[in-house]
Amino acid sequence: MTQVFINGATDACNVRDHDSLDASIQELIRAASEARNHAYCPYSNFAVGAAIRTSDGSIYTGCNIENGAYAASICAERTAAVKALSEGKRQFVACAVVAQQDNGFTTPCGVCRQFLAEFASNGRDIALYAAKPTNLPLRVLCTSVLQLLPNGFSFPSGK
Ligand code: THU
Repeated sequence: MTQVFINGATDACNVRDHDSLDASIQELIRAASEARNHAYCPYSNFAVGAAIRTSDGSIYTGCNIENGAYAASICAERTAAVKALSEGKRQFVACAVVAQQDNGFTTPCGVCRQFLAEFASNGRDIALYAAKPTNLPLRVLCTSVLQLLPNGFSFPSGK
């Protein structure tokens, strides 16, 4: 455990060397990094790539896609998620996010945390890996969607 600075908040998080991670996690981070190259972000100039591993082992990637009507923009994580979902994949086991943020790691926004949590495989959790595209040696924040979204909303069952 290392104390790191994430988006203005100090938190106890697990930051690891990229090379120490499983090959399947490195592959997911690489996929997110490649997807970042397709980001359409002329307004923020902040390119983000994401990759989601589904329970069958597939990877779905996404990038942020902005719009002149700002509210119509979509984050990289939800782009990846809707690609998986529209192909019938609803069991998410891991997600990687790659962006170049100098003052910490880029983690999913609140909307994306809620969106991803809905599709945790077997109602469990989704491993979340946040990395930067260039910094070497590459360090990776290893956390999870439920760590980032404690006490999130889930629709009440029953009437
Ligand atoms: N963004 C993402 O795509 N994912 C994140 O995790 C953080 C923010 C995008 C939204 C917007 O296009 C740009 O980054 C700046 O907020």
